Amino acid sequence: MKAITLSDPSDKTSLHLTEVPDPVPAAGEVVVRVQAAGVNRGDLLQAAGYYPPPPGASEIMGLECAGVIEDPNGHAEFSSGQPVACLLAGGGYAEKVAVPAGQVMPLPEGYSPEEAAAVVEVACTVYSNLVMLAGMHAGQTVLIHGGAGGIGTFAIQLAKHIGCHVIVTAGSPEKLEVCRRLGADELINYREDDFAELARGRADIILDIMGAKYLDRNITALAKDGHMVIIGMQGGTKAELNIGKLLAKRGTISATALRARDLDAKAKICRETVAAVWPLLSAGTITHQIHEVLPLAEAARAHQMLADGAVTGTLVLRVDTV
Ligand SMILES: NC(=O)c1ccc[n+]([C@@H]2O[C@H](COP(=O)([O-])OP(=O)(O)OC[C@H]3O[C@@H](n4cnc5c(N)ncnc54)[C@H](OP(=O)(O)O)[C@@H]3O)[C@@H](O)[C@H]2O)c1
Repeated sequence: MKAITLSDPSDKTSLHLTEVPDPVPAAGEVVVRVQAAGVNRGDLLQAAGYYPPPPGASEIMGLECAGVIEDPNGHAEFSSGQPVACLLAGGGYAEKVAVPAGQVMPLPEGYSPEEAAAVVEVACTVYSNLVMLAGMHAGQTVLIHGGAGGIGTFAIQLAKHIGCHVIVTAGSPEKLEVCRRLGADELINYREDDFAELARGRADIILDIMGAKYLDRNITALAKDGHMVIIGMQGGTKAELNIGKLLAKRGTISATALRARDLDAKAKICRETVAAVWPLLSAGTITHQIHEVLPLAEAARAHQMLADGAVTGTLVLRVDTV
């Protein structure tokens, strides 16, 4: 099959379409013929050598895809040709991928393969962290950093649907306007204002993508019994934790990475996300923007666009036209 590989491991831009062996499904896996694959920041990090696939996962990039079942590999719940969307630990930038059966989902009703491939990772990440982990429920105040990003736009819509008061940070008036249109209640330009002062002591839940840079200020913003969930490290990995300040608030800090979760956890996340979120996608209650669909062979250009910050929503690679 054809797949995108790094022709020079020391050069993160050397992404090329090459011939590689077909995936061989392990017990518990099915083979999916990929039609579309989403492009994520994790793929950029993997290309740069910072985010290796977990042991046993494909070395090929691509954390989400949609396609059809090629080989059910003995799983009676699937049939050849059945349309599916998949959460992957890797392997989406290819014509075929072996996927643990628990991470194979139906497409949201009415969704194209491109639309489904763009939404899997963001939906599973946001739902698993805000609802399954932090227990987000109506009446809470939720602080979402990077509200206009792929994760942020989805998180705003889910939090508003559930009935929360939503505070967002973003880097420009235009991006804050995107957040406002999605329902965000309080808009904070992180380049001009201090979110910690504006949200001081009010955030029951914080969805954090900055890590070290925001650790102390997030604790300032946290409400009593608040829960901060760190899912990104865009502001670094090492910071000093004021335990006294956290303790005074009975605060909880979690840090999670979807890709590294074990198979049972990922299967549960997929099941619960399909049950709770897919109907919201089908009904248009939550929308997720596709920035552009590019051919698989243009993966290098897709990575450059994402690295340049030129992407709103998700970039999708169309795979079955290579
Ligand atoms: N742990 C996991 O399982 C998991 C899964 C998926 C994604 N992630 C992580 O989640 C993060 C967001 O992913 P994404 O797909 O939404 O990326 P994205 O669309 O590229 O968004 C990045 C966001 O970072 C924001 N940002 C940059 N500097 C900021 C600052 N100082 N304060 C507040 N926000 C700031 C940007 O805001 P402006 O554009 O307004 O400047 C933008 O909204 C990434 O770090 C990604 O690695 C983690």
